[in-house]
Amino acid sequence: MSTIQKLMSTAKAMIAESKGLLAMDESTPTCNKRFEKLGIPQTEEARRSYREIILTTHGLNESISGVILTDETIRQSKRDGTSFLKIIADAGIIPGIKVDAGAKELAAHPGEKLTEGLDGLRERLQEYSQMGARFAKWRAVIAIGKGIPSRGCIDANACLLALYSSLCQEAGLVPIVEPEVLMDGDHSMDKCLEVTEEVLQTVFNQLYVQKVKLEGIILKPNMILPGLACTKQAAINEVADATVECLLRVVPAAVPGIAFLSGGQSSELASAHLNAMNTRFKSRLPWGLAFSFARAIQQPALEIWKGKEVNLLSAQRALYHWAKCNRNARLGDLA
Ligand code: G3H
Repeated sequence: MSTIQKLMSTAKAMIAESKGLLAMDESTPTCNKRFEKLGIPQTEEARRSYREIILTTHGLNESISGVILTDETIRQSKRDGTSFLKIIADAGIIPGIKVDAGAKELAAHPGEKLTEGLDGLRERLQEYSQMGARFAKWRAVIAIGKGIPSRGCIDANACLLALYSSLCQEAGLVPIVEPEVLMDGDHSMDKCLEVTEEVLQTVFNQLYVQKVKLEGIILKPNMILPGLACTKQAAINEVADATVECLLRVVPAAVPGIAFLSGGQSSELASAHLNAMNTRFKSRLPWGLAFSFARAIQQPALEIWKGKEVNLLSAQRALYHWAKCNRNARLGDLA
């Protein structure tokens, strides 16, 4: 099988008809922050136990095609010594890996960030590929505020996303291309639409410049939403319509799939928005619309678990439930 055939077949499996991705790739500081709020110890063992709970949830593979791991998690094992990678493989789930090194202050651009991580990436991708990873993720963040985002921030992030993507494809890994326009702020939904359209347009131009094969990527964008502090929140169908309108303008039909991030939406809203998009537009779209949620699937389970063994089964039930809701939303079939 040629590299492009391999990439296309992985991307197709990631975006399988009734499934989506589970992002369990919170960085250690982010994971610790979420643990701290719930009184869970911020230790490697607590993070390992939590990830074990996720990966041993019975029936996860009914809704989840792939999981995004971190460098720490991909090397970890269950308490009985079985490696996480074996559990994932046995469940028929595709393992992926977050490879960016996080968003850092962008010089000369107050309030804006540039995602780093290209140093040594070729070698790291080779190692992950040998371990069994079949896709990777890189997240760029674009903030909306007074005078931002700037051209400099959008261009620099798009360029790095494209360079990362082409290295991934060279290594036979499908790049998840994630340019996230953040929900923080009081901006309107129209502003989010305008910025997201410009960002995606720039990203696709850069992917073209870097000769990335669009058939072998998955796009992970934000939905089109008003800022969290905006006084005028939007109806579910308005979000669905604006998001699809934006994507139709800028995402080439060669892209096999779009898997949204949840970005701080509640679990209910994230599923409802995805469901509305699939119910209203699915038969007319060139690409599949799926999910690659972290908080929208995991947060209720984390809040139930609270680091206590006795809550393990209830936490897994919640995780299964939210994964299944998004399976239904993927099908446009959410009750
Ligand atoms: O990069 C961010 C995660 O992959 C998605 O997280 O669904 O909580 O926004 P989220």
